[in-house]
Amino acid sequence: MTSTGVQATEVETQAPNFTSPDLVTFTPRHYGDWHDEFHKNGCVLIKNVISPERAQYYREKQIQWLHNFDLGFDENDKSTWTEEHLSVSFKGGMYFAYGAPHEKIAWEARTEPAVIDIFEKLWETKELISSFDGMNISMPRRKDLHWSPWPHCDQNQNRKGMQAVQGLLNYAPNGPKDGGLMLRKGSAKLFDECFAQKREYFDHEDAPPPELEYMDLFLFSEKDVKWFEKHGCELIKVNMQPGYFVLWDSRTMHYACLPEGDQIRHVQYICMTPRRFATPEALELKKECFENFVGTTHWPHCNIRPAKEKPKRGLNVCPKYRSEPFEKPEVTDLVLKLAGIKAY
Ligand SMILES: [Fe+2]
Repeated sequence: MTSTGVQATEVETQAPNFTSPDLVTFTPRHYGDWHDEFHKNGCVLIKNVISPERAQYYREKQIQWLHNFDLGFDENDKSTWTEEHLSVSFKGGMYFAYGAPHEKIAWEARTEPAVIDIFEKLWETKELISSFDGMNISMPRRKDLHWSPWPHCDQNQNRKGMQAVQGLLNYAPNGPKDGGLMLRKGSAKLFDECFAQKREYFDHEDAPPPELEYMDLFLFSEKDVKWFEKHGCELIKVNMQPGYFVLWDSRTMHYACLPEGDQIRHVQYICMTPRRFATPEALELKKECFENFVGTTHWPHCNIRPAKEKPKRGLNVCPKYRSEPFEKPEVTDLVLKLAGIKAY
């Protein structure tokens, strides 16, 4: 036990070994800030993490990134807000391919001092490593998309306790009609109990569809949703201003809604965990991903599944496929530390 009340326990980090115990035990105490809400509900909104001007910079850079593909996308012409004018995304706006997780703007967001500060305070260490997550740029009211809620969590049911905490940095005004993050408040705390229930609550196949498998993503059934409702877990839509940040325990049931207003949704997913959670093998794999501009799951320290799949248009690889970012990151000491390559 450290003087700060955080206890590290033995760590298993090799996917797909699901025998991990809790990674950290937080001694119950009063913090007097966002920690209290996070530890109570498994999620919290943190305001004004970056300035509105900085958020606008990221919005413009994300739009520029879409222009770079030269597919005729025009942010001011809604008729171009279709698949043929956009690079290939997941669920209508999440970009993990084309080296996107290693674009300069992705690393700039990860190295925002106030973003790092959140994870330093959360884990009570300065020695953090980051996931190589993607970004989300979602056009509202796209006519070529069919969408339905996809409640899931990004922690496999065999990993127990709080092992990873996800985050997103929001760049655009995000009100009730602007889509975005839906969280089932309190569901993280009931994760183990939920999966310990008899199988009648879980009437679908546990194996996620292949495209989701690499993300360690568990899709909940309608019965699961009802179980969480019955246990008092409220579904909330997180509304945000540019520069706000959301943190959620990876056991939290959640999904993203597509925007229905006029505002394009702009987000960078960011997750960090203590470097000490990672095995040398996991760090080696991260190094390989970093050097080859490959993305990972939301997990920074384990479950490193290099996202090497090439983006497909129908059966074919997208002609705009590329394996490097348009704008490579500046490889600073901090970037190398967060990538897990350089020790603290
Ligand atoms: Fe997710």
